[in-house]
Amino acid sequence: MATIQLKTPIPGPRSRALAARRADAVPRGISQSTPLYVAKAEGAVIEDVDGNRYVDFAGGIGCLNVGHRSPGVVKAIEDQLACYLHTCVQVTAYEGYVRLAERLNRLTPGTFSKKTFLVNSGAEAVENAVKIARSYTGRPGIIAFEDAFHGRTMMTLALTSKTHPYKAGFQPFPGEVYRIPYAYCYRCSYNLKYPACDLYCARHLEDTFKRVVAQEGVAAVIAEPVLGEGGFVAPPQDFFKVLIESCRKHGVLFIADEVQSGFGRTGALFASEHYGIEPDLIVTAKSIGGGLPLAAVTGRAEIMDAPGPGGLGGTFAGNPLSCAAALAVLDLFEKEDLSQHASQLGARFQKRARAWQKNWPIIGDVRGLGAMQALELVQSHDKREPAAEETKQVTQYCYEHGLITISAGSYGNVIRLLMPLVITEAQMDEALDVLESALKTVHEGKHEPVVQPV
Ligand SMILES: Cc1ncc(COP(=O)(O)O)c(C=O)c1O
Repeated sequence: MATIQLKTPIPGPRSRALAARRADAVPRGISQSTPLYVAKAEGAVIEDVDGNRYVDFAGGIGCLNVGHRSPGVVKAIEDQLACYLHTCVQVTAYEGYVRLAERLNRLTPGTFSKKTFLVNSGAEAVENAVKIARSYTGRPGIIAFEDAFHGRTMMTLALTSKTHPYKAGFQPFPGEVYRIPYAYCYRCSYNLKYPACDLYCARHLEDTFKRVVAQEGVAAVIAEPVLGEGGFVAPPQDFFKVLIESCRKHGVLFIADEVQSGFGRTGALFASEHYGIEPDLIVTAKSIGGGLPLAAVTGRAEIMDAPGPGGLGGTFAGNPLSCAAALAVLDLFEKEDLSQHASQLGARFQKRARAWQKNWPIIGDVRGLGAMQALELVQSHDKREPAAEETKQVTQYCYEHGLITISAGSYGNVIRLLMPLVITEAQMDEALDVLESALKTVHEGKHEPVVQPV
């Protein structure tokens, strides 16, 4: 039986009624990429309040690599519920926090001695990675990348690249943040071609130290091993090695933001593994908590110990329910080869997407690592003008036909895949059928929206 089942036009009457209430009660600044309201979710499937069933390619924006209500996660949360909810680890601590730290220390790349600190969100973890890097090096500067996304707090907005809607109007941001181009080969900022460019963008870091900010003023370079919100860009193989070589030469730390690329998404537990790199600090969040809020900074023990007692913390940071859920997430990764499945899902998508690309010039680029896959839509192959309006039409067509997808990219023209890695092959194929007909319909200019987008 098909997974997708639509009983009402989308959105249904109950979702519409909730949208009207939301418009009165919730600020418009919190956007919503579909007009749907959820009643339940399981695995890779979401059912809305009108009884319509969708395949979920968003996974709560990459938070559900183990799937909605993963049985092990639910059981661990229930067991924890029966004991205590919150004590604050800075007052009376608990084993779950320590066990999770031990496991992350073991699982993250690098055989050196590590320590882990837990917080609530990706942005909070990035903020803390910056604090720790500054405390260890005694230097203020942080170098971030074009098209980077690191969060919505003031420091992380300073690190984030995209102006609208994230940064515009919220200035001033904290200083000492410097920005350099990422290895976004499809839109190279230097207009070069890989491999002939010999990774000019990575080698240019040395030049940045001469022309933009002196190395002795830089605490860290922070990078997403695969760009998330920036459009699922996976740099060429040696990009990070070259960067890290420069960093090491000058005593600059390298922070990998694996908030979106972590926990099996790219076909390895961490995307850093694909690049053979050992970051000094790794930031994780999203799928670590199996659906609960949790984030972590893991790094070299001597760096993590730089801030003195009381220098790090947070009331709810690493709360017991989230720790229990995260330990169950790690158990699942040990038991089932979800990373391997991620690679298979990615290959399944690539095979179909390459054929679509041949048929429809709207698909400029097909790219990704493992199950972190994306399509970049353009007006034409040669000029590559971003097709943002068409991207909106594709995502709208998709949810109107039972597939929840979200976009990404500095130009809003990338369709990204963040389905739970437990998705079945049949569900994946059904979802790709919808995406295929969305692309065909939009390519042919035949999309007629049921309602105006929210
Ligand atoms: C790479 C990356 N870093 C940081 C963040 C911020 O995480 P959060 O929304 O949990 O604060 C995100 C969120 O999308 C992200 O993708």
